[in-house]
Amino acid sequence: MPAPPNHRYMRQFESVALRLLEFADAETARNIVIKGLCIGAFLPPPAVVESSRLAVSIAGLDLKNPLGLAAGFDKDAKLLSVLPRMGFGFIEVGAVTPKPQGGNEKPRLFRLQEDGAVINRLGFNNEGAQSAVKRLANRSSDHIVGLNVGANKDSGDWMADYVSVIRSCGDHVDFVTVNVSSPNTAGLRSLQGRRELRKLLSLTKSARNDLASPPKLFVKLAPDMPLSQLREAAEITVEAELDAIVATNTMAVNLGEKFPDGPNLGLKSGHQMEGGGLSGQPLFELSTCVLGELYHITQGRVPLIGVGGITTGEDAFKKIQAGATALQIYTSLVFHGFSHIAKILADLDKRLQQEGFTSVKEAIGSDNASWRLGRG
Ligand code: FNR
Repeated sequence: MPAPPNHRYMRQFESVALRLLEFADAETARNIVIKGLCIGAFLPPPAVVESSRLAVSIAGLDLKNPLGLAAGFDKDAKLLSVLPRMGFGFIEVGAVTPKPQGGNEKPRLFRLQEDGAVINRLGFNNEGAQSAVKRLANRSSDHIVGLNVGANKDSGDWMADYVSVIRSCGDHVDFVTVNVSSPNTAGLRSLQGRRELRKLLSLTKSARNDLASPPKLFVKLAPDMPLSQLREAAEITVEAELDAIVATNTMAVNLGEKFPDGPNLGLKSGHQMEGGGLSGQPLFELSTCVLGELYHITQGRVPLIGVGGITTGEDAFKKIQAGATALQIYTSLVFHGFSHIAKILADLDKRLQQEGFTSVKEAIGSDNASWRLGRG
């Protein structure tokens, strides 16, 4: 069936805009897109895919479809009136830290065009919790919105930072994600260690429980930690009775961190030696194996959100088969625009149907054995 004129117009407009944005450096391009979205320049909105097969529930939150926007795109919750219209099943804003923070020196965001990838070392640039809470408090409750929480680089007590953001913003969101996996704040990933993670999850859970409208509590893990640490982190998350694990964040590249079992990425772009977090297509295999491993370890005791390198409906289907209940994307939007959401969802719906699944739920973990770490 041909797309209605509005949607065709949107796709054409987007593809011209994306071509033009290739001439700008990555951070300028990102800022132009965010400003454009703020003033509605990219409207009319793209097609929205609706199918009962795609509806899914995670941690008690009912989603129209499983595909969400990953953290880091709308860092300051400025696009809450626009993003839900783009067809996502849910949105995660942030990361937000207690105090405003400028982030690392520019340049700090790089498009790896030939690789369908991005390297970022933004370093939690955001306007701080006091600014975010005003916007979150005024949002419409029609959509599922979560908040990604980080810590200020110079804070003397990172754990207190997570608690502080949950206390100030948690009442206004459906879920909070404790982000202990950003590679761009030196040392932050140590919070994934056994003792630290146990303590942090206990503190954040108490802070969440004390709220008048407690949100669901998720934790977001890195794709590149030793298998033994991943197993421990998964068990600690289950013990702490968290509501979901987000798997995964970006992969640390050229930051001096050693990941001995890391994949040979074979990147082609001139920016491949930049330090930061790698996202997009080259992350797909590793992040999906981590997801599959987590599903195997947790055996349904905590639901999983699969994120990392989703570019097609087939990728989305594979993440679900590996063990994801819901999904998130970011980098493929940089290359394909927002109209790509409908394409991914329509193709996912078709794949589910072809394989005889009547719902996302039926397909979760259906090919887990193909997506495990260290499988030969
Ligand atoms: C991110 N990501 C991210 N994650 C997070 O938990 N908090 C954050 O603030 C950010 N910021 C951020 C900025 C930029 C520019 C990028 C590209 C990514 C990681 C993101 O949410 C996601 O986990 C990864 O990008 C993997 O998914 P994709 O991009 O491969 O679909």
